[in-house]
Amino acid sequence: MPTPHNKAEMGQIAKTVLMPGDPLRAKFIAETFLENPVLFNDVRGMLGFTGTYQGRPVSVMGSGMGMPSIGIYSYELYSQYGVENIIRIGSAGSYTDKAKLYDVVLATGAYSESSYARTQNGCEDDTLAPSAELCDALRASAAKLGIPMVEGVIHSSDVFYRHDDRTNPTYWERLRDEKGCVAVEMESFALFHNANVLGKRAACLLTISDSFVSSEATTAEERQLSFTNMMKIALGAEV
Ligand code: ADE
Repeated sequence: MPTPHNKAEMGQIAKTVLMPGDPLRAKFIAETFLENPVLFNDVRGMLGFTGTYQGRPVSVMGSGMGMPSIGIYSYELYSQYGVENIIRIGSAGSYTDKAKLYDVVLATGAYSESSYARTQNGCEDDTLAPSAELCDALRASAAKLGIPMVEGVIHSSDVFYRHDDRTNPTYWERLRDEKGCVAVEMESFALFHNANVLGKRAACLLTISDSFVSSEATTAEERQLSFTNMMKIALGAEV
């Protein structure tokens, strides 16, 4: 460290890092929720800040979109900067009417067709688990705040614009029925894999931004506001 993608010096990043996909959301979280936020990275615009929340040091840094991107940033945080806990906070498309627009989802596993884990170290698993301790800390935080969470396996997809609407059942319906997937996002499988291979902890909270069931979607402005619940749960996790 510094790395090709992160100019922070050792000691500038907290042991717990919250990772939204969007670096501007990282800036918003730092400026809105953290005390004394200090910028530690702006390489490629991937903003990262460290501050404190209720007295606990915490960092927040963008991950970018997709598994290659979060794969690079999370690997470097764990392996170069002594980070122990990464909590992804992102958006997801719902595959079930049990997860409605704006609901917060806690991932209990990430199913993926991605080659990330196989390419990284030959791992053939198609479903990877988050850290049980981190999930328990998030459950305790959500309970304390009185915010309900939907729990379930999520689909980590490499493809946002799929042409699957002519199959019957559709691809997403099969993932829901055969793999138990409640929602789709694009990062957690790589994050969970990196945590597993490096002996670290990862978890993922998602806010439903669109629904494959009802075809509803939120605007960028609505998303910004509704993500507050998820951020509070993540920040309140005592890890
Ligand atoms: N994140 C939010 N909505 C999504 C979707 N429909 N597909 C993949 N990732 C998403």
